[in-house]
Amino acid sequence: MENYTHIIGCLRGRKIVLGVSGGIAAYKAAALARELGRVGADVHVALTEAGLRFVSALTFQALSGHRVWTSLWDGDAENGMPHIALGRGADAILVAPASADIIARLAHGRADDLLTALCLARDCPLFVAPAMNRQMWENPATQRNVATLRADGIIILGPDEGGQACGETGPGRMLEPGALCEALLAFFTPRLLAGRKVVVTAGPTFEAIDPVRGITNSSSGKMGYAIAAACARGGAETVLVSGPVALPAPAGVRRIDVASALRMRDEVLAVLPGADVFIAVAAVADYRPAQTAGHKLKKSGLPMRLELVPNPDILAEVAARPDAPFCVGFAAESQELDAYAESKRRAKRLPMLVGNLLADGVGGDDNTVVIYDDAGRHPLPRAPKALVARQIVEHLARLLPAG
Ligand code: PMT
Repeated sequence: MENYTHIIGCLRGRKIVLGVSGGIAAYKAAALARELGRVGADVHVALTEAGLRFVSALTFQALSGHRVWTSLWDGDAENGMPHIALGRGADAILVAPASADIIARLAHGRADDLLTALCLARDCPLFVAPAMNRQMWENPATQRNVATLRADGIIILGPDEGGQACGETGPGRMLEPGALCEALLAFFTPRLLAGRKVVVTAGPTFEAIDPVRGITNSSSGKMGYAIAAACARGGAETVLVSGPVALPAPAGVRRIDVASALRMRDEVLAVLPGADVFIAVAAVADYRPAQTAGHKLKKSGLPMRLELVPNPDILAEVAARPDAPFCVGFAAESQELDAYAESKRRAKRLPMLVGNLLADGVGGDDNTVVIYDDAGRHPLPRAPKALVARQIVEHLARLLPAG
């Protein structure tokens, strides 16, 4: 995964200035600097005096590979005025963590330290990730300041709710580094699906035999979740109907959890109205037990027969509707990918289908896929599922009729 992450998103080569103010969440800013670097951003760090009390400049220097700026008076022959030099050519400034104090000073246009001066002198988007005690966050003064920042076009990311360093619980936690990185990725990703609604299925289904046993498969959900994340980043209203997997919902995606194919079908049909695109990535069980035992089945020592009945084919049903959205199918095969994938595409009359070999696609972080459409086959190079998903979304956006 490491080798490819730099090309997944649209942060590659972007100059991101990370402003770190004083707060216990400053230690998470180190992970954030690393995460931004992993997706290809050129990270430069400005630390406030209070921030320096929590994390050392050396940490950020090692993580970003650049000198860390801490004072308005840090200039040298090359960078006469750090607040101008650092902001020059920046694609975005992200203040994380943003303490109540820095938010207040930004709201009032103060410029009495490097970070505030830098923010005032910028000509790029400014993101602010608040992090503070819940009472400080809820205080009307802070809320007034945040409203002022929003009115000035500054993008507020979070805060999250939950347990706080002070032992209290409530709003004020800084968003996790991954979520902040994701927000920047989304900001810089072309909005190819803006104004569109996309429904995605992902993961396996679980067909219960009795209260503890069932029929399922080894789909991890990674491919479907990557597709949903790529759709959301592309600006789509994205609903993910997910079988049982151990993955968090991607940012900006509404997830509906299901177990069986019948429930997956019901939920898909319930959210389908208004959808422009349906992408069926789920490995839906073709059969389910004819009956589910109400109690745990007992061992008898004798052979046991399990009667299976076919499940509805969700994709075929959606694609056959008179008001069908643009439907994208998936096919996982163990052999003869081209022949089986194309025959599935034709049988279900799909404008687009993504084929993968089981050995390539199930469970792992990477995938090798071929896209099939009316123009033929389009193989994609092996890559992490996030990158494969982005390319699939770009392909479908090109085929999608104008909205
Ligand atoms: O989850 P991962 O570990 O990341 O693995 C990803 C994947 C390999 C599961 C994924 O890339 C994939 O190929 N998904 C489709 C699995 C499959 O084999 O589908 P199928 O050939 O059984 O069905 C063809 C299409 O019809 C699929 O789009 C499927 O979602 C859909 N279908 C199938 C049966 C059914 N009852 N309802 C459906 O909607």
